[in-house]
Amino acid sequence: MNPAEPSSNFRPGLNGVIATETHLSHVDGQNGNLVIAGYEADNLARHASFEEAAYLLWTGKRPTKEANISFRQSWKETTRSSWTTWSKIEPFIETFQGNIMESIRVYIASLQARDTLKPNKEQWIQDALSITSAFSVGTAAAWRKGQKQTPIPPDPNMDHVSNFLYMLQGEYPTPKAVDALKRYLLTVLDHGLNASTFTARVIAGTRSDLVSTALGAFGALKGPLHGGAPGPVLEMIQEIGTKDRAEPYLRNLLESGNRIMGFGHRIYRVRDPRADILAEAAETFYESENTSSDFYELAMHVERTALQLLAETKPDRSIKTNVEFYTALLLNGIGIPSQLFTPLFAVGRVVGWLAHVMEQLEDPRIIRPDSRYIGPFHGSWLKDSKEKR
Ligand code: COA
Repeated sequence: MNPAEPSSNFRPGLNGVIATETHLSHVDGQNGNLVIAGYEADNLARHASFEEAAYLLWTGKRPTKEANISFRQSWKETTRSSWTTWSKIEPFIETFQGNIMESIRVYIASLQARDTLKPNKEQWIQDALSITSAFSVGTAAAWRKGQKQTPIPPDPNMDHVSNFLYMLQGEYPTPKAVDALKRYLLTVLDHGLNASTFTARVIAGTRSDLVSTALGAFGALKGPLHGGAPGPVLEMIQEIGTKDRAEPYLRNLLESGNRIMGFGHRIYRVRDPRADILAEAAETFYESENTSSDFYELAMHVERTALQLLAETKPDRSIKTNVEFYTALLLNGIGIPSQLFTPLFAVGRVVGWLAHVMEQLEDPRIIRPDSRYIGPFHGSWLKDSKEKR
């Protein structure tokens, strides 16, 4: 075939190509369902702890009572050693002058990487635990460091989610805040073969180590098209400021050809199920915590107005609220600064990345799609050169 001819196999961006089979999550875009390791995402987010969900994804099983106790124990020990590693790298983090993504990247890069040539699930799970705990310790500590506050060591008696809030905010968090954050983290735990997960699997396919897979995935997540939307959602709501400004502001956005952040999704053609989970979590949180209900009411008004205008201006599309809209609302309520929205996404998604990595390592196969050359053919280098050698 002439390389310049279009090939029926060519799918830009691999759109619609099934590149792997997985036991980890099922994204049903037509019906708006998300299943994580056999459980409805909503059910998991409500009832499982973060540690139980990680155990489920990494082992494929629900932990027994005994397994749960010993897994939590080793999680706490691992969190302690993540802090020790952080303390060693902390002076170096100064260099990044508050750039949170750079600081976390450097800290993760400093973790010990073990090779994966021999199948060793126990070791992989131990490494996955170290990396997962490091994302949490690193995010909280790097943030405080960047704010010229002293980083806070983890409390050995706390679970993963409570500890994150404690290390970040320096106060024991309320059960409602812990539950709201846990629901967020479990909602973003895994989501099919998204860009960062795919990156992690590509790296694992070469039999690289787990630290490298997480670093690569983190790099992919950093891009604004993947992990960066909730920040702009928050800015938009804050910029709108009052209910009466919502309609003119949003109409103006659409008329000038811009998109309303927090709406629409490439895969979900109905409402993003994760938006439902977080909408409920946000409602419960704002009601119970006495947090500024004005902001919540404004956000609800912005959502209603946006949906109305999108239905009016794009009647042939079904553009609904996506996960980022409620992420912004919920995380802002818990008191998480918007600069931490993307790193916090990683604090949850790292569990999914590493589950995919282990799945890839169990059935080792290099991921190597083809490309179609569309450049020129010049013939010999010597022929075109005036100074023939
Ligand atoms: N606001 C306004 N218009 C939107 C829109 C939004 N949020 N989302 C999609 N559209 C419109 C597009 O302008 C386009 O209109 P046109 O056909 O008249 O040109 C049409 O819907 C399809 O857009 P396209 O980008 O092809 O659809 P998609 O389903 O692939 O897009 C997103 C998915 C997420 C990229 C898109 O909805 C978007 O940019 N949303 C805002 C950013 C965001 O919230 N991202 C986080 C996603 S979880």
